Amino acid sequence: MIVPPSLLPPPSGELKIPHASESVRTPKSVYFSLVVPTYNEGQNVEQVVRILSGLLDHTLPNDYELIIVDDDSPDRTWEIAQHLTADYPNLRVMRRQEERGLSTAVIRGWQAAHGEVLGVIDGDLQHPPEVLLKLLQAVKNGADLAVASRHIEGGGTSDWGFIRRILSRGAQLIGLVILPSVVGRVSDPMSGYFMVRRSAIADCLLSPVGYKILLEVLGRGQIDRVTEVGYVFQERQEGESKVTWRQYIEYLMHLGKLRSRGRITRLREKFQLGRFLRFGLVGFSGFCVDMVAFYLLRSQFDLGIARSTMLSAEVAVINNFLWNDLWTFGDISRGQPGKRQRFKRFLKFNLICLMGIILQALIVSLLHDAFNLSEFIAKPIAIVIVTFWNFWINLKLSWRVTDVRRK
Ligand code: GDD
Ligand code: MN
Repeated sequence: MIVPPSLLPPPSGELKIPHASESVRTPKSVYFSLVVPTYNEGQNVEQVVRILSGLLDHTLPNDYELIIVDDDSPDRTWEIAQHLTADYPNLRVMRRQEERGLSTAVIRGWQAAHGEVLGVIDGDLQHPPEVLLKLLQAVKNGADLAVASRHIEGGGTSDWGFIRRILSRGAQLIGLVILPSVVGRVSDPMSGYFMVRRSAIADCLLSPVGYKILLEVLGRGQIDRVTEVGYVFQERQEGESKVTWRQYIEYLMHLGKLRSRGRITRLREKFQLGRFLRFGLVGFSGFCVDMVAFYLLRSQFDLGIARSTMLSAEVAVINNFLWNDLWTFGDISRGQPGKRQRFKRFLKFNLICLMGIILQALIVSLLHDAFNLSEFIAKPIAIVIVTFWNFWINLKLSWRVTDVRRK
């Protein structure tokens, strides 16, 4: 797709905001980049650019940029904006033809931006531009995130009917139930009018769903300090709102995604998923060693079943200990050098595996006798349960990071 020089090429790939040092730099960097997402705002865009430029020329002379991100509007908003670039040197325009959606429009605008502070404002004059000054001041005073809110002192929604108010508040309440740690941090989580310090969201892999980019910033960014500024959501002069039922559904999906991601991250951190997978692989190698040793002891050495079972199990335990000590928990065991420490770990590992074998036998007999489950179904179930047990107890006991006595 050939992009004329007067248009910004839309970034593609991961939705990650680069650190200021990595972003594509113009001859001069700017302090503030304000993204204006537009869809069919042809009747508003000229006025929006004029008012915002007038305000920012005064407040941040030559230290800001306006980035209009248009999703190939049928009313050709992008073209009208493109013509405005001749009169407004701080205006940059992006026409997206492959990707759609409000949240990704904002993120792609921030990816192309050079500012230390990244902002977003609606392109239909429903967000009073003068509130920008208070938001900028809040960031200058140390806020990582400054949000224009309709639900605090000085806030309000001028022309919203009863239904829209109920829907917005209802969505907020649901958000407070599903994701209190995110939605509860601001009084107006539905706001699309805010600014954030680039460093607070740089390198975070964003994956928003739908309209509410603020949720994504709060849910995935490193946001310590949040400041809110009251504003009255204005009546729309021209065009109409693009909010439909779909945006509400997407909002709920977005909450669910952020919630599960938070849980997976906590689980991954807490449970050390990668380490558990290595432990499982070692366990599988142990199962193979166990079966081969059992076969050889029975066929070549003609040992009895009980003795073959126990000896082959011990061979497997030694196999597993060596691999776990070297690979699964290698990062921890390297911090506990010496034969004595290693032997101690081996004894603990053996003891835990012995308990695991007993636990496994109990589970198989419980499932078989009490639930009438075939032993060939009960056995793998028991192996999986005991693998979790073995992993967790070994992590906490055998390879627990002990204070290695400095000699
Ligand atoms: N690029 C792009 N792509 N822009 C979009 C899209 C899209 O798919 N959909 C909407 N926009 C632009 C509109 O052109 C407008 O500038 C802005 O996003 C807000 O869209 P509206 O349709 O006017 O939303 P609203 O008036 O109902 O406002 C609600 O949503 C906004 C966005 O989250 C309120 O919650 C606002 O507070 C919020 O800012
Ligand atoms: Mn609007």
